[in-house]
Amino acid sequence: MVELTIDGIKTSVPEGTTVLEAAREMGIIIPALCYHPGLTPYGACRVCIVEVVKGSQSLLEASCTLPVAQGQTIITSSAKVSQARKVIIELLLAACPNSKTLQDLAASMGVNRVRFKIKDKNCILCGLCVRYCKEQMQSGGIGFVGRGTSRRVATAFGETPEECRNCNGCEWICPVCERACMAGSLTDGVCGRCLNLAPVETCPVCTHCSEAVGSSGHRVY
Ligand code: SF4
Ligand code: SF4
Ligand code: FES
Repeated sequence: MVELTIDGIKTSVPEGTTVLEAAREMGIIIPALCYHPGLTPYGACRVCIVEVVKGSQSLLEASCTLPVAQGQTIITSSAKVSQARKVIIELLLAACPNSKTLQDLAASMGVNRVRFKIKDKNCILCGLCVRYCKEQMQSGGIGFVGRGTSRRVATAFGETPEECRNCNGCEWICPVCERACMAGSLTDGVCGRCLNLAPVETCPVCTHCSEAVGSSGHRVY
């Protein structure tokens, strides 16, 4: 067993446990977007950052990929953590203002503005859909393509993958598709009210590509 201290409380957990899992086991809430208990941790969204105290200094690290270590001291909700998480949420909202999951997370953290340019990419590159498809469905029908700002989730050659089992899991698990915000204008990035009372529309010729379907129709890869 590994002994560590989280938010001033000593605990011991099996080796290989992550800090996020250890904190959750204690009932401490750490927000997480790209983490799912049934999937390999990916460390993409950085929303789960915590402060790792090292002597008189501390570092911010993603708790979902950080393994517990003997004698470790973790702070999950300091001003430093809170401030960094807010900036991360602002960046994610700028990429995907139409995600109800993100809007809710922003509201819960007191984020009431987005200072970054709204890009509305419909994807935060969390990789949940890709990992779900590969690890739970043993399919691999979708994957990441491109680099840098061109990086996106797509099917091979832009075609409906033969491996696809039509499970719809990639859409269900997506923090953007599964809970799409229906607000008409999110030009400032923050919704501030809940209009998400209608279920998410699905495309009549759905290939379960993980894209949300809005009034402008289906986006073709
Ligand atoms: S619907 Fe197809 S692409 Fe999506 S997770 Fe299932 S198998 Fe993968
Ligand atoms: S499509 Fe959704 S689940 Fe897949 S990487 Fe983008 S935000 Fe994540
Ligand atoms: S939940 Fe840890 S980086 Fe996304």
